[in-house]
Amino acid sequence: MSRETIQQRFRELQSYVGWTDLDAARVVMAAPLLEPHLPSIVDDFYAEIERHPDAQHVITEGAAQVERLKQTLIDWLRELLSGKYDEAYAARHWKVGYRHVAIGLSQIYTNMALSRMKKGLLRALRESWPGDEATLLNVVESLGTLLDMDLALIQEAYESEHNALLQRTERLATLGQVSGGIAHELRNPLNAIKTSVYFLSRAKNPAPEKTAEHLERITRQVDGANRVVTALSDFAKQPAATLSPFSLRECLDAVIATQPPPDNIALTISVADDLPKLMGDCEQLQIAFSNLLRNAADSIDDSGEIVVTAELQNGEVLISVRDTGCGISRDDLPRITEPLFSTKARGIGLGLAITKAILEKHGTGLSVESAPGEGTTFSLKLKAEA
Ligand code: HEM
Repeated sequence: MSRETIQQRFRELQSYVGWTDLDAARVVMAAPLLEPHLPSIVDDFYAEIERHPDAQHVITEGAAQVERLKQTLIDWLRELLSGKYDEAYAARHWKVGYRHVAIGLSQIYTNMALSRMKKGLLRALRESWPGDEATLLNVVESLGTLLDMDLALIQEAYESEHNALLQRTERLATLGQVSGGIAHELRNPLNAIKTSVYFLSRAKNPAPEKTAEHLERITRQVDGANRVVTALSDFAKQPAATLSPFSLRECLDAVIATQPPPDNIALTISVADDLPKLMGDCEQLQIAFSNLLRNAADSIDDSGEIVVTAELQNGEVLISVRDTGCGISRDDLPRITEPLFSTKARGIGLGLAITKAILEKHGTGLSVESAPGEGTTFSLKLKAEA
C-alpha cells in the first residue's frame, strides 16, 4: 500500500474517533511524565512475552534481539507521544503489522501486548500526574484513543499483508498443482512416442504391419498430447460462443471420429433422425461432448457401456450421456466441475470445468446423477432451432 493510502486510512481512523489537535496536545503534555517509565513498561512487555511460547518463538536471535527490540519499542512509544502524526508516522506504524506477518507473529499477541502496555502507560500517568483530576481524565481519554487508533492501523496492515501472503502461497500451490498435472499428462504420451521411435530407428527390416502399428501409435499419442494442450488453451481462451443451427448427430460423429471409444466399451448413440437442429456453437460443444465421453470412458475399468440419448421436450433437447462406470462418490459430486479437481490418477481436472463454462455460454448447465459402483449420467439441455 502506498504512503498516501496509508495516510488516508490513518486520517479516516482519526475522523471516525473524532481525533483533534487538542487530543494531540494532551498527549504531548503527558510525554515528559511518561518518559521515565518507558524502560520499565517495555521490560514488562518482554517479560510477559517470555511466558508465552507462541509469542516467544518469533524471537530467534536471543537476548541481543530482545535488547534491540526494547529500544525499537521505546522509539515507537516516543514517536507515539510526540504529537506529530504525519504521513511518515502513519507509514512507520503501519510497518509494524507488515513486519509481524513477515516474522510469523499472530496478531493476537500484538493486541494483548498493546492492552498490557496501555494499562502500564495509564497507570504511570495517573501516578505521576501533578494536575487536576478533570484534565487527567481528558489526557487519559486522548492517550487511550491514540493507542486504539494505532492498534487499528497495525491490525489493518497485518490483515492486508497476511491476505497478500496467503494469495501468493495459494497461487504457488495452484501453479504447482497445474504443472504437476500437465507434466504427468504429457510424460505418458511422450514416453510411448519415444519407445516407438526407438523401435522404428533400430529395427532391421521390420514387418510393414509392425511399422504401421508404431506409426499409428505415435499418431495416437501425439493426438493425446495435443488434447492436453488444447484443453489448456481452451481454458485460457474461453472464447464467446457463436450460436447457429447444427445437427447433434454430426456434432457427435465428429467427436467420435477423433476420439473413438476403446474396444472394451460399447457406445450407443440414440439420436432420432428427425430430431430438429439445435442452436449452439458446434465447435465448442464438440469440446464439451468430447470431455463427457472421455470421462465416461475413463470411469469404466474392464468393460461397459456408454449411451448417448437426445429427446425433444418443449422446444428444448435433453441430451444425456450415461455410463456404466465406477460412479462418483457423494463427497466428490459437488466438486467435479471445479477447476483442477480430479479423481483420476492422471488428469488435470479441467475437462468438466471447461464443459460447464461452455454450457454456461449457451445459457444452460450440466446436471449429474451418479450411483457409486453403478454409473453416472450427465445431462444438459440445448434449445432446438425455432
Ligand atoms: C504493542 C505491540 C507491538 C508493537 C507496538 C510492536 C512494535 C514493533 C516495531 C516498531 C517493530 C519494528 C518494525 C520495523 O521493522 O520497522 C517490530 C518488530 C518486531 N516485533 Fe513487534 N511490536 C509489538 C508486539 C510484538 C510482540 C507481542 C512480539 C512478540 C515476540 C513482537 C516481536 C517482534 C519481532 C520479533 C520483530 C522483528 C524485529 C527484528 O527485526 O528483529 N512484537 N515490532
